Amino acid sequence: MLQRNSGNEDNPRILQAFNEKTPDWLSFFMFTYFTDRDGKFQLCALAESAFDPLARTTKFMLTEEAHHMFVGESGVSRTIQRTVDVMNQLKTDDVAKLRAAGVIDLPTIQRYINFHFSVTIDLFGADESSNAATFYSSGLKGRYEEGKRNDDHVLKGNTYKILAVEEGKLIEKEVPMLNALNEVLRDDYIVDSKGGIERWNRVIEKAGISFKLTAPHKAFHRNIGSLSGSKITPDGRVVTSEEWMAKVGEWLPTNEDRAYVGSLMGRVTEPGKFANWIAPPVMGINRQPVDFDYVRFS
Ligand SMILES: [Fe+2]
Repeated sequence: MLQRNSGNEDNPRILQAFNEKTPDWLSFFMFTYFTDRDGKFQLCALAESAFDPLARTTKFMLTEEAHHMFVGESGVSRTIQRTVDVMNQLKTDDVAKLRAAGVIDLPTIQRYINFHFSVTIDLFGADESSNAATFYSSGLKGRYEEGKRNDDHVLKGNTYKILAVEEGKLIEKEVPMLNALNEVLRDDYIVDSKGGIERWNRVIEKAGISFKLTAPHKAFHRNIGSLSGSKITPDGRVVTSEEWMAKVGEWLPTNEDRAYVGSLMGRVTEPGKFANWIAPPVMGINRQPVDFDYVRFS
């Protein structure tokens, strides 16, 4: 009756982030933290629509995204908690020793962040887009929190800075704001997504460990827009393809990282028990106790 019409090889989803595999729970948490947040921003832009049924529907859908993002943020947070606990128990930051102890080392978590952050910010589309201008000017979409902005909401004559590569260097380029509304939304998204990374850093800090997770540069690992033709490091340096190939294993999850994380995935079904690589939640879903029996098999 229902024929699946997207997401298979012959018929991939238009948005690449949704074609990426989600083979392990760390990928899943990263997806719900970063990529569901893209959903939040796209829905927020549509919630400003002058077409009232669309605005009202998307406002309703937004209530769902909040829970999805919570699952991701708390999932990554618990993974980090378990890692830093074991780092302190074993008094080591040696990746091999931590992997032998069955937890996910912080550099691997950083590479997962780099991957999911970069594929997600691609979802906002090309840095310059005449479609984005048309959608805005016709009232189909607004900006994030349009009502809180103090400009004229028409934006004719306004400009916005976008990134480009010129002579092997990243530069800022001023373009008409109406054409840069994808970039405006992407920048709002970036500010919002950095909040959770800071909260994850507090878990590491509280454990007394000096390691800082960061969002990669906006230009890193881009496949959409004017930056897609360039190789740019997580700290925003334009590099050659050779340097990229030599270092990419430090920046993005390697096959080995993914195989290791995959090897940790297993079933734990006893209430109150958790897999070795993740700490128990502070509280159960819906404020239930941690050992609450959510699923009953008859
Ligand atoms: Fe979602």
